Amino acid sequence: MEQSLPALIRLDHPAPAPDEARNGLIADPGFGRVFTDHMVTIRYSDDLGWHSATLGPRGPLSLDPATAVLHYAQEIFEGLKAYRLTDGSMALFRPDANARRFNQSARRLAMPELPEQLFIDSIKALIDADKAWFPPVEGGSIYIRPFMIASEVFLGVKPSSEYLFMVICSAAGNYFKSGAPAIKIWVSENYTRAAPGGTGAAKCGGNYAASLIAQQEATGQGCDQVVFLDAAEHRWVEELGGMNLFFVFDDGSILTPPADGTILQGITRDSLIQLARAEGLTVREENYAIDQWREDAQSGRLVETFACGTAAVVTPVGSVHGREDSFTIGSGGPGQLTEKLRSRLVDIQRGTAPDPYGWVDRIN
Ligand code: PLP
Ligand code: COI
Repeated sequence: MEQSLPALIRLDHPAPAPDEARNGLIADPGFGRVFTDHMVTIRYSDDLGWHSATLGPRGPLSLDPATAVLHYAQEIFEGLKAYRLTDGSMALFRPDANARRFNQSARRLAMPELPEQLFIDSIKALIDADKAWFPPVEGGSIYIRPFMIASEVFLGVKPSSEYLFMVICSAAGNYFKSGAPAIKIWVSENYTRAAPGGTGAAKCGGNYAASLIAQQEATGQGCDQVVFLDAAEHRWVEELGGMNLFFVFDDGSILTPPADGTILQGITRDSLIQLARAEGLTVREENYAIDQWREDAQSGRLVETFACGTAAVVTPVGSVHGREDSFTIGSGGPGQLTEKLRSRLVDIQRGTAPDPYGWVDRIN
């Protein structure tokens, strides 16, 4: 049965952050700690479908201790950004792609799909309400976190009959604290992220919970991020804990691991593939072995490697570290093609270059 979309009820905030406090917070927001005044909540039940859509003051949730998500982790999320365009208006980047991926994740986690229009409209309403939180810093954005949890109070193991969809926002600067020109990554030998048939292609909290010990190992080794190899052979490079990877060769061609079920189908990844092809570059979506990566970096056949994602945008990888050995990529700093593709993407996102793909979705 096609359900009509519930109207978004707007509740006034009794005490939004005063200008001075907000301006202090957004002057150096970092990533993921400075939250805006409002949030969206939409409820689902098997009986009523999606209902009670509200844009209201941001605040804590009250959950029964037996709420299903707290026990079986039936949870999914998305991550996208709002940018300020040169004319001062706000825009989202490819929110339709996030809405589609959210529903792919929902299907994998046996959760109800949210109408794509409701996903996009509720985000736009929230950004419009909280646009004063846009941080005046280089590379600043409002990072948007839509998510859905299983909210039925029941301890039996089954898909919940009730869900809560929410959207929260935070003012964001750089994802990586170090501000280094290129990141160091750690090869996880003991832990894998995803196996065929598992949840690797879904954006569910459980994937990240399972990745934390490997990320902790990476941090302990002085690295910024962990890179996972495939679960079956421990040979093929898959992705980082929260980013996809690209490899650039001395003939100007590019390779990225195929999105065939065990990695997240990054929207930044897809955008960069299209932008690189538009530049006339050859882009292959093929498996790449860790031994080949080391050999190619050492022979000079591989000249650049970069990570990409909404939070990290395009970040050069400077060196790769493992138990046995380490290797440097190119000069260890940002490569030329990495910089070029990053600018192509960022210029479209911020409205300083034309958008022939229709990726920029204006809010106001
Ligand atoms: N891979 C993982 C595991 C991620 O968490 C993310 C971030 O969302 C990405 C890749 C990049 O995806 P996107 O470009 O859609 O942000
Ligand atoms: C994103 O880029 O949106 C993510 O979800 C990745 C996470 C590391 C913040």
